Amino acid sequence: MQTMNAIKDAGTSGKSFSQREFPMTDKDFETIKTLAKLRSGIELGEHKKEMIYSRIVRRIRALDMTDFKTYLAYLEDNPGAELTNFINAITTNLTSFFRESHHFDFLKNTVLPEIIKKKKTQRRLRIWSAGCSTGEEPYSIAMTLHGCFEKERWDAKILATDLDTNVLSHGRQGVYSKERIGSMDSQLVKKYFVEPRGSANADSMEARDSIKNLITFNHLNLLGEWPMKGKFDVIFCRNVVIYFSKDTQRELFERYANILEPDGYLFIGHSESLHGVSKRFESVGRTIYRKLM
Ligand SMILES: C[S@@+](CC[C@H](N)C(=O)[O-])C[C@H]1O[C@@H](n2cnc3c(N)ncnc32)[C@H](O)[C@@H]1O
Repeated sequence: MQTMNAIKDAGTSGKSFSQREFPMTDKDFETIKTLAKLRSGIELGEHKKEMIYSRIVRRIRALDMTDFKTYLAYLEDNPGAELTNFINAITTNLTSFFRESHHFDFLKNTVLPEIIKKKKTQRRLRIWSAGCSTGEEPYSIAMTLHGCFEKERWDAKILATDLDTNVLSHGRQGVYSKERIGSMDSQLVKKYFVEPRGSANADSMEARDSIKNLITFNHLNLLGEWPMKGKFDVIFCRNVVIYFSKDTQRELFERYANILEPDGYLFIGHSESLHGVSKRFESVGRTIYRKLM
């Protein structure tokens, strides 16, 4: 099965943008850049032009239009549903099960034992997968949690949020191709996945309720209001801020620090860093941070 981005990025061409079947001027690209930044925080550099062209052309074709100018005027006049399609088109959703596996080892061997000890009376655990894409990240967290809490009665929940509505539906369904699942340990697959119910492709598997029930998938723009009331013990925000400006990152990490429990943990992506961005955390491992008091 193709990944969400392989589908989004198929079919690019070598011609200049204004000479193509669906012409895109520099001004059109500037408008797309401005809108993307405003609505999602995503920064689109010149190097992203080809990718964005091919993704937006799909919307232009779907709407039976002939050029970017007409599409952008339509987007301005009819924000609602088309704005959702536009946002879904510009996000990059690359992910995989147990991506950056050392994070899950640290969660299992250090974070969870510490929390089990610290919160043995409350028995409440909250983890946020911010920018969860198609769900592989929160399901990997859920498998790690389930393994640790199997014999314990804990109120453990994972909140999984994303801006892209398509990836959220995928995550909620919890159905993945056998090829994607095949990267996992076979014991885990046996324990946590079954042949899909319903009409899903026979070449796929579905997450069992034991892990599905630990996760709530919700639509949330990290740049907007956060409706969550309680604090989190752990936040995963991996390979998300890489697309944001340093200023947006500064604001976001300040808000993460505020919504984490004292001593709470933050996991970020392999090419991301808090250096020069936040002083509210100390480094406790490779791309793993703990909130400072
Ligand atoms: C590359 S994926 C990372 C997925 C996963 N965290 C991982 O590391 O495997 C980045 C995700 O961030 C989401 N995203 C981008 N901007 C966002 C925003 N402003 N609010 C919420 N999610 C956003 C995208 O839709 C995308 O699914």
